Amino acid sequence: MTDADAASGSVGVVLVAAGSGSRLGADKPKAFVPIDEDPILLHAIYAVHGVQEVAALAIVAPPEWLEAAQELVDLHLGCPCFTTRVVAGGAERTDSVRAGLAALPDDVDIILVHDAARALTPVEVFERVIDAVGAGAAGAVPGIPVVDTVKTVDDRGIITGTPDRSRLRAVQTPQGFLADVLRGAYAGGLTATDDAALVELAGHDVVVVEGDPLAFKITAPEDLDRAARLVAEGA
Ligand code: C5P
Repeated sequence: MTDADAASGSVGVVLVAAGSGSRLGADKPKAFVPIDEDPILLHAIYAVHGVQEVAALAIVAPPEWLEAAQELVDLHLGCPCFTTRVVAGGAERTDSVRAGLAALPDDVDIILVHDAARALTPVEVFERVIDAVGAGAAGAVPGIPVVDTVKTVDDRGIITGTPDRSRLRAVQTPQGFLADVLRGAYAGGLTATDDAALVELAGHDVVVVEGDPLAFKITAPEDLDRAARLVAEGA
């Protein structure tokens, strides 16, 4: 595939929503916890629906919550703008992404992997990632500068280094890749906390594009409060 093909190619999205979200302290998986009247997962799906290039969506939900996820899709998203499949996730995020990749059609050119927990990610962030891959990058991830000084430590908590802060980025999702590159990286059977790490290990360059504070990950109760405030303000 040439760069021009990728630029005009269709986009598949793997939306991972199979985490337990234990740090949120809720009585249900994080994706099903409401922000306002709608759960985190539905807000994340709404964001994906705002992205014109998307041709297919794979929603990865906890195995016991597949019906609930399908119900959200059926009740709220009648529009057949693109194909949507709901599949079961696995124990680790990597397992869940792998399940989502298997559920996407073979003919998408670019694949985005997105955390449902980053439910308020603006459409512009999706577009920047798609544009960077369309322009020839093997992979692109949104990132924001790190404001704190970051230390590396050993097992005893003794500081072993202070990386140059100007070279650090806190990365977010959606993370986008040429489909063949991402599928190849996942074929290796390794695990990682983000998708770029596997693609980097496979020897490809991944670029960082401008992220957005609104792409924060809902992890703790205070993040949920922040999301609710933002939604009430129209985010
Ligand atoms: O737990 P963590 O913050 O890494 O989760 C990031 C995203 O990955 C969340 O949207 C979560 O639902 C998803 N995830 C998943 N399957 C897992 C673990 C996390 O789909 N086993």
